[in-house]
Amino acid sequence: MKIFIDTANIESIKEINSWGILDGVTTNPSLIAKEGIDLRTCVKRISEIVDGPISAEAISMDAEGMVREGRELAEIHDNINVKLPMCVDALKATKILSNEGIEVNMTLIFSPHQALLAAKAGAAFVSPFVGRLDDIGHYGANLLTEIMAIFNNYGYDTEVIAASIRHPVHVFEAAAVGCDIATIPYDVLKKMVSHPKTDEGIERFLADHKRSTKK
Ligand code: E4P
Repeated sequence: MKIFIDTANIESIKEINSWGILDGVTTNPSLIAKEGIDLRTCVKRISEIVDGPISAEAISMDAEGMVREGRELAEIHDNINVKLPMCVDALKATKILSNEGIEVNMTLIFSPHQALLAAKAGAAFVSPFVGRLDDIGHYGANLLTEIMAIFNNYGYDTEVIAASIRHPVHVFEAAAVGCDIATIPYDVLKKMVSHPKTDEGIERFLADHKRSTKK
């Protein structure tokens, strides 16, 4: 499974990239606003750090505006794909952009029907939001299972990005059903590295080594 980081924070991206496990980056208007940086500058900087897909979200709500923004964003770097929020205009824009070779990441996917429509329109990626479904009392991981079953049944090339990840179990759930990608916040990536038994084991090995070299 490919691992993307879900952030617009340049330092976090640099750090995770240095681990050698990073395949791409997703941003959204909320993440960009948090960093107090403009979208173009942000994704340009990211493209200088990470060699993989980078999602930049359009804010137009009509197909014409989405296509215009999509073309402008895609010009910044070859690795940039355009994030569009699921709606009829986004489907229309996806068809046009994908025919031009510009990749679309259809975001805010909350049902398998939305994912199916996005794939049919030519989206390169769909982003089902697991955590936000959990927030309203659903079991978000079910959505991943349903989308993977549909895409496998019909052989869609559209890649599934498990999004709105809140903890390491979400990452495990995405990998268990074969999602192509999980886009993971910085703090969850940090949590994935550690285990108390690993820390305890390291401590014991070091203590034993120290003891044995004292003899
Ligand atoms: C996906 O690409 C989104 O940026 C993100 O995963 C949203 O997550 P949230 O529900 O934690 O805001």
